[in-house]
Amino acid sequence: MVLATANPDKARELAAVLSATATGRAVELVGRPAGVPEVEETGSTLRENALLKARVLGAATDLPALADDTGLEVDALDGEPGVRSARYAGENATYADNVERLLREMAGVAPPDRGARFTTVVVLVFPSGEALEGVGVVEGRITEAPRGAAGFGYDPVFAPSADPAGRTFAEMDAAEKDRLSHRGAALRDLAAKLRDAVGTTGEEG
Ligand code: IMP
Repeated sequence: MVLATANPDKARELAAVLSATATGRAVELVGRPAGVPEVEETGSTLRENALLKARVLGAATDLPALADDTGLEVDALDGEPGVRSARYAGENATYADNVERLLREMAGVAPPDRGARFTTVVVLVFPSGEALEGVGVVEGRITEAPRGAAGFGYDPVFAPSADPAGRTFAEMDAAEKDRLSHRGAALRDLAAKLRDAVGTTGEEG
């Protein structure tokens, strides 16, 4: 299958998690070919955007195409930035710009009110037009300042509730993040459905 993402951080995580599942090991991953135009994310939901990206790549390559779309929903901001997470601080915002805007919007919000969640929708679209979907959600909180240098995007300010030490994703190594993360959960969900669809057996992934 071909990976639709042009984001190397996401491609690295998708490949690592998928290759750690029984189904994923039976799959050959192909990077996004050069020259395929960037897809504008015009959908109003994560699912629509993921489908859009997978369909364009699938049509360009005639291969099963895997795409993900991720959003960060912050309770104190009524669910913002959500589907606009990549462009929160403007069209060409960097990760740092988005984090800075988020912390600015959250200034003065007390720790108990800093709840947030990441949601990833991952879709696999086949040349036949059939599609499979996986969803992963991780609950956590927005820290008051960035911590850690690993990961990408909002990782330095997102502390998943499942980590007893209260670390941010950026303070974890890649394998730990994959075990706890929205993207890891979405891919494991998709891998289970793929395994059911193709009727393979084998160890759980
Ligand atoms: P996209 O629309 O799926 O490319 O992702 C939206 C934005 O969410 C990205 O630009 C990142 O800033 C952020 N994002 C996506 N996945 C993660 C993650 O795993 N950790 C932190 N930020 C992420």
